Amino acid sequence: MLNEMLPGYEGLVADPYPAYADLRASGAPRLVTMRSGLYGWLVTRYDDARAALADPRLSKDPRHAPADWREAGRGRPLEDRSGLGTHLLTTDPPEHTRLRRVVSGFFTPRRLARLRPGIESAARTLAAGLSPGADLVGDFASPLQSGVICDVLGVPAADRTDFQRWTAAVVSSEPGEPDARPAALRALGAYVSGLAEGKRRAPGDDVISAMIAAADDGDRLGEDELLSMIFLLLVAGYETTVGLVGLGTYTLLRHPSALEQLRARPELIEQAVEELLRHDSPVELATWRFTLEPVEIGGVVLPAGQPLLVALAAANRDPLRFADPDRPDLTRQDNAHLSFGHGPHYCLGALLARLVGRAALAEVVRLPGLALAVPVERLRWRASLTVRGPRELPVTFG
Ligand code: HEM
Repeated sequence: MLNEMLPGYEGLVADPYPAYADLRASGAPRLVTMRSGLYGWLVTRYDDARAALADPRLSKDPRHAPADWREAGRGRPLEDRSGLGTHLLTTDPPEHTRLRRVVSGFFTPRRLARLRPGIESAARTLAAGLSPGADLVGDFASPLQSGVICDVLGVPAADRTDFQRWTAAVVSSEPGEPDARPAALRALGAYVSGLAEGKRRAPGDDVISAMIAAADDGDRLGEDELLSMIFLLLVAGYETTVGLVGLGTYTLLRHPSALEQLRARPELIEQAVEELLRHDSPVELATWRFTLEPVEIGGVVLPAGQPLLVALAAANRDPLRFADPDRPDLTRQDNAHLSFGHGPHYCLGALLARLVGRAALAEVVRLPGLALAVPVERLRWRASLTVRGPRELPVTFG
């Protein structure tokens, strides 16, 4: 049924969970085709999903995809190795290991801990500037996360509006709207080259400067890899974290007792963010893998050369793994959700996303009398398979 409904994905995006429950019940991977023509076998059970994410027989390199799949993915650097497409999400070890080593030093707990006061103060300032009727996505989560990403990467303040627009277009194409992706990709490609050139001349204390130093220091990073990695870091952390804040707020508003609980016990924020991530995975499906040999999943043997998608949002609600999975329980123990993936491709920015998520949601719950300003049915959703979340969240408070 997800298969038939995907062309008009709109209806599923606000609540895909009943469809996932049906798919999980059988356990067998189900072939789905996207509007773009990309297709894959959906893996929905928690145990199968976790195993698939770390299985070395499953490649992330789209050159292992079937020819018609590669044709549909052409020109999309998250699914195609050409252009800006040689990065962490399209490579396997040992290539992946080498690329990851170049950036991982920047995402250590110690280094990120230094960013925490700045993130908290940015969240406080943005929250203080909100007035009733404000949109918590456009007026709060988006500027907060774009500021964080641009600071970490060293993107000048003047370029942030362009960056926000391009990255939004790259990860989400909305049905019924002209496809803004090719133009945004061209603009982002030109921008990334210019940015790298600028950092080469005047390095700063940022990730891009560190990658350039690594690239120029021997041959640890080729020029294509450098530009692709800058592209990946620019796009991977923005809409995803905005999705976490948007979905987290949405869930708290839909479950007033959870909102009250967090207000009364702010010390629960770390656990609460994990539970909100489990309850609604911002990255719903964008976890392509390709079978290098026949692989058995959910009682079915997928032949070599098949594309599959790990449905993180479905796995996180698997009743075989999580008790009462549809209920957000902010004190849940043993919450090994898969929202940041698992295995060698585990999200590089997970700690950063958590810092932003905690700072943002701590401010959101402090807004007194917080409520949605529009009926829930009127909310518009990001309809891309990469990131799920409300496109805007107009609220009243005070
Ligand atoms: C990988 C989710 C924020 C950078 C991933 C993966 C997931 C994910 C599920 C694994 C994909 C796969 O296995 O196919 C999220 C979510 C976020 C978030 C839900 C926010 C709530 C960030 C941030 C950054 C980032 C803030 C960077 C600044 C990356 C990178 C990878 C990745 C570079 C590739 C890692 C690799 O392949 O080794 N993310 N992410 N993400 N994420 Fe995140």
